[in-house]
Amino acid sequence: MRMRGQVTVLLAFCLGACSTGEPDQVATAGEETPASGGAVTLAATPPMGFNTWNRFGCDVSDELVRGIADAMVESGMRDAGYEYVVIDDCWQVDRGDDGRIVPDPERFPAGMKELADYVHDRGLKFGLYTDAGPKTCEGRPGSLGYEEIDANTYASWGVDYVKVDWCHSDSLSAPVQYAKVRQAFDDSGRDMVLSICEWGRNLPWEWAGEIGQLWRTTADIRDNWASVLWILEANNRHHEAAGPGHWNDPDMLEVGNGGMTFDEYRSHFSLWAMMAAPLIAGNDLRAMSDEIREILTNEEVIAVDQDSLGVQGKVVLDRGYGLQVWAKPLADGSVAVALFNQRDAEMEGSISWHEIGLDAGPATVRDLWAHEEVQHVDDGSIATRFRRPVSGHGVVMLRVTPTS
Ligand code: GLA
Repeated sequence: MRMRGQVTVLLAFCLGACSTGEPDQVATAGEETPASGGAVTLAATPPMGFNTWNRFGCDVSDELVRGIADAMVESGMRDAGYEYVVIDDCWQVDRGDDGRIVPDPERFPAGMKELADYVHDRGLKFGLYTDAGPKTCEGRPGSLGYEEIDANTYASWGVDYVKVDWCHSDSLSAPVQYAKVRQAFDDSGRDMVLSICEWGRNLPWEWAGEIGQLWRTTADIRDNWASVLWILEANNRHHEAAGPGHWNDPDMLEVGNGGMTFDEYRSHFSLWAMMAAPLIAGNDLRAMSDEIREILTNEEVIAVDQDSLGVQGKVVLDRGYGLQVWAKPLADGSVAVALFNQRDAEMEGSISWHEIGLDAGPATVRDLWAHEEVQHVDDGSIATRFRRPVSGHGVVMLRVTPTS
């Protein structure tokens, strides 16, 4: 069979609009520039990890973070690729006379350096949260005017990742303010991922790729189906902005937090992977069911998210009655596909090779949730279409690999 070259597939997929992360946006590996912070080396693939906010809110502590780090190792999540353990809002209470940020002494009695060491000793990385403005969303001290001192403090603690929020900041210029934070990180001498969190208010897909490694595109996710649907629609609009070292962030995962069904969580996870989204778990890893662990550690789905080509998959076909086809070209010439049923009742989903950017010809089709090949044609005959029932609110996720 004849298979289109990867570039041709990409071109067909992007229709001239895709950024493939070419060097006008990011530094090449190993090369640091003040504007990029060595973005490609820092997040060549979408960051994966855990963040405290979705499940624990302000109830953060040293004990929780150590427990999560242990669970990340024991559950197999670290081996599946999860790396960062991030404390969101509420770890900080004050500034000292020297201007240094002060962690809550009751909740973090050992201090942040010792906690970061604990996380690092488990082969993981450590992250924190601040705000670009004077206060965080929960009213804790923000970084405005303290960018350098904060960056140096984080670096001295061994911080690897910082989420920088935007509460109380609307009078500031987001590109200017976040660039200041980036510069301070670079000047600190430590590689720190900058997670920009201004909820898409200032069109970050237009400027943030030169400053941070990821940027939120929407308001906060909630643990319900309606929230997943509107975030998908919003984040899909900016697919051309993503690429190695600079990712759209449709917000952290709610998988396992209890507000959605198993099928809904599976769809949520699958489509985040299709969108090359950061996979930041937000559930209690210390107490998750096997079912939830299997979603979060599905290595075939994670491989789609982490694919080195770094293209954000998108809706290639909306059939208009609640059935969408998403496609994401992969580095080996395969195409990841999600047949996504937004309706309550089961529906048949189908794709043609043409719809996903492939020429007619033999191909293997692998189901990434069933972990099996579900169609295999390599006898030279023509295969051009694949059909499958898709459960209500469910997804069938596939990897279509042309065979020659
Ligand atoms: C904002 C962010 C959330 C979380 C909270 C913490 O709402 O978007 O992700 O960080 O602040 O207060």
